[in-house]
Amino acid sequence: MNEAQTLAVEVSAIEQVTPLIKHFTLAAADGAALPAFSGGSHVIVVMRGALRAHRNPYSLLSSPHRLDTYEIGVRRMEESRGGSHFMHDKVRVGSRLEIAHPVNLFGLDKIARKHVLIAGGIGITPFLAQLEDLHDGAAPYELHYSVRSPEHAAFLGRLREREGDRLHMYYDSEDQSIDFDGLLSNQPLGTHVYVCGPAGLINRVIDTARRCGWSDSHIHWEQFSAPPTGDAFDVYLARAKLTVHVPPDRSLLESIEAAGVEVPYLCRGGVCGFCQTRVLELDGELVHNDHFLSEADKARAKSIMPCVSRAHCRTLVLDL
Ligand code: FES
Repeated sequence: MNEAQTLAVEVSAIEQVTPLIKHFTLAAADGAALPAFSGGSHVIVVMRGALRAHRNPYSLLSSPHRLDTYEIGVRRMEESRGGSHFMHDKVRVGSRLEIAHPVNLFGLDKIARKHVLIAGGIGITPFLAQLEDLHDGAAPYELHYSVRSPEHAAFLGRLREREGDRLHMYYDSEDQSIDFDGLLSNQPLGTHVYVCGPAGLINRVIDTARRCGWSDSHIHWEQFSAPPTGDAFDVYLARAKLTVHVPPDRSLLESIEAAGVEVPYLCRGGVCGFCQTRVLELDGELVHNDHFLSEADKARAKSIMPCVSRAHCRTLVLDL
């Protein structure tokens, strides 16, 4: 994706749905219908502040059957480097934003015999759109939604009304937790499991599913996290003939973009592989934070995913 492919949208409604989550409704600035998407898709929202632009991925939570508006949920992140604070503090009804076309890296498997959805906190958002697709399908499904307390359960009214006993709630405040072993050791053949939420929840589901004999092709997960911070370093872009400084609180990708060089991306979360960039020279070590490169590729240090990865080095030259 690049900036030429963004869509101009206007914020048409904002609702505070939990103490930490705001629900935004976005309409095309020219009033036209928005591009089609399927449940599990996300958009990158470009937020232009006075000093810098933020580009954060957010899942579309509105129905894929309605294209007059898109809806997203934004959790205020305590450790945010600015994106979620910008959305919470600066964006008002009537504000203009840019978004990228929707991309789905977390789609439902079309031939699954059953779907088990597991959400933690703000991780409920992609499932809200997927549920719209599941209502129309023949495959059974169940949703397990874990939150810290009832007041943090975003969109609970809507879920209760539409999902009935397919919805299973878990509140940390009441010492309730998902029995992952029980849930994943006893599903019919052909079941797919989907998990979205904090890293700990995702890892727990993946580990348990593998231990219970699930094939990786039946385990789906999505995590959007802010790129990790780290020590500052410099990078030389060989084709652009440009040295770029990467400060501690800005990702390598953001720094390269701020210097006016475009790098293709989809997820900005170290998952899709689109931003993979060749390393031409390195004196030091790469700090790989992605989930795309294999351990062997990471050890070879010939590629880096600049959306999330960094370097401890005296020299880093990239093929950009
Ligand atoms: S943009 Fe997806 S891995 Fe970097």
